[in-house]
Amino acid sequence: MTVAVIGAGPSGLATLKALADRGVPAVCFDPGERVGGLWVIGGPHSSAYRTLHLNTSKGRTEFADHPMPAGWPDYPDHARVAAYLQDYAQTHGLLRHVRLQHTVEQVRRVGERWEVTVRGPSGTSTDVYAAVIVANGHNSVPKTPTYPGQATVEQMHSHDYRDPAQLTGKRVLVVGGGNSAMDIAVDSSYAADSTLISLRRGVWIVPKYLLGKPSDTLNGALAKRLPWRLRQRISQTTLRMAVGKPSRYGLPDPAHGFLQDHPTLSDSLLSRISHGEIAPRPGISWVDGTTVTFTDGSCEDVDLIVWCTGYRVDLPFLDPALLGAGPETLPLYRRVFHLDAPGLMFVGLMQSTGAALPVVEAQARLAAAHLAGTYALPTPAEQRADCAAQLAAARDRWGDRRPAMRIDFDAYIDLAARELAAGTRRAADHRGILWKDPA
Ligand SMILES: Cc1cc2nc3c(=O)[nH]c(=O)nc-3n(C[C@H](O)[C@H](O)[C@H](O)COP(=O)(O)OP(=O)(O)OC[C@H]3O[C@@H](n4cnc5c(N)ncnc54)[C@H](O)[C@@H]3O)c2cc1C
Ligand SMILES: NC(=O)c1ccc[n+]([C@@H]2O[C@H](COP(=O)([O-])OP(=O)(O)OC[C@H]3O[C@@H](n4cnc5c(N)ncnc54)[C@H](OP(=O)(O)O)[C@@H]3O)[C@@H](O)[C@H]2O)c1
Repeated sequence: MTVAVIGAGPSGLATLKALADRGVPAVCFDPGERVGGLWVIGGPHSSAYRTLHLNTSKGRTEFADHPMPAGWPDYPDHARVAAYLQDYAQTHGLLRHVRLQHTVEQVRRVGERWEVTVRGPSGTSTDVYAAVIVANGHNSVPKTPTYPGQATVEQMHSHDYRDPAQLTGKRVLVVGGGNSAMDIAVDSSYAADSTLISLRRGVWIVPKYLLGKPSDTLNGALAKRLPWRLRQRISQTTLRMAVGKPSRYGLPDPAHGFLQDHPTLSDSLLSRISHGEIAPRPGISWVDGTTVTFTDGSCEDVDLIVWCTGYRVDLPFLDPALLGAGPETLPLYRRVFHLDAPGLMFVGLMQSTGAALPVVEAQARLAAAHLAGTYALPTPAEQRADCAAQLAAARDRWGDRRPAMRIDFDAYIDLAARELAAGTRRAADHRGILWKDPA
């Protein structure tokens, strides 16, 4: 039995490591020239830029079985993260399983097996695999909005942003309240002639340090003891004391509570606003020519709009029939196992409140244990009931913003460890669904 892994970013690499640890043969495809996914700046799907640093701290980001070097700063840059991932692959002997410059074009279910079509330098080939693990990332296909009006102004998406030189000498409008918007607005405030930032709703902007420690470590310490509602109150109070309300800086105040949205981190945005180098604006109503009209009726002439409006999940190689209402709403048991297609698994198809790497490492361990026959899934009815309960809880917390994909970092790490133990007991007791090699 061989397993096909799609993508050699952090998720694909963690998957290869977990499969190798369990003795499950695997081959991994990636169109890039190096492993490391979006952290390899200039890679085929990379959204990384020259000034990019981790916004999750080193200690909360590293794989559990591969620490980042002790001498590194708390928030290393993209080059260090890419080097770390390359080192992870080399140290654990993963590179021999990776076919670089190979793009998966199609995955088809044929009986109980999976037919995978791959395009590489010497053409297209199709092979059959026992299982497929999808780890192709979801931060590389831009979501670009259109607003009413006849816009002629130059526009780009954050996906195509690489270097502050792209902003030099321009009147720049950055749109969005996520981490791309924070970083690019700050870069722009140094490189461009002028910088506006437009937010259609308020976000909590968290500095990288709180109480002298990387801010995600504080929440992590509290998570062991307190439910998220209580952590929310403590975090909001700490944030108010540290930086005050966003409206103090001319930004909209968030309507939702902290920990009920993807965290937005920036040490510099509020400071650059307070220096008058970035001017906040509300949402956009329409764009005509080079003039942007905002929801408060004000207008600005700009030379460049940078849409930092996020990314969409794209699984173009999968039969849409396997994706139900769409990839963002796909129910997956423990965000890993497809409910109707045994042998189809996903690693990294989630949006975490914290770092990605420990989460995908935990997911990879579940998938590998299942394929090694030591972890049994619960019955299909139990899987469905669990997905429904998780979705209801996520809706309650995150509303309609990608609830199916949301996970609480600390709660998930804990849940995945308990799940592995529970599935191992099920397997030992011959309960639940054990993996059957179609061969
Ligand atoms: C600008 C930016 C900054 C970020 N900062 C942080 C951070 O500070 N901390 C953090 O934890 N997370 C961060 N993230 C989230 C980031 O997605 C994760 O860190 C991590 O890269 C996810 O790993 P992945 O392997 O799932 O996806 P990716 O890193 O995107 O890797 C996916 C891989 O799949 C490959 N692939 C795609 N399509 C195919 C195909 N058809 N066939 C074969 N291979 C394919 C791609 O080439 C790529 O190598 C950031 C994201 C962005 C966009
Ligand atoms: N390490 C880092 O420093 C770093 C840097 C960049 C990105 N990242 C990561 O990369 C991922 C993507 O981040 P991102 O910032 O690119 O995307 P994102 O987190 O999805 O944020 C997109 C932002 O655009 C807004 N938006 C969406 N559609 C809009 C529209 N039609 N009009 C106006 N605003 C709109 C959203 O507002 P609504 O919420 O109202 O939709 C949101 O504020 C995240 O995981 C992030 O943490 C990390």
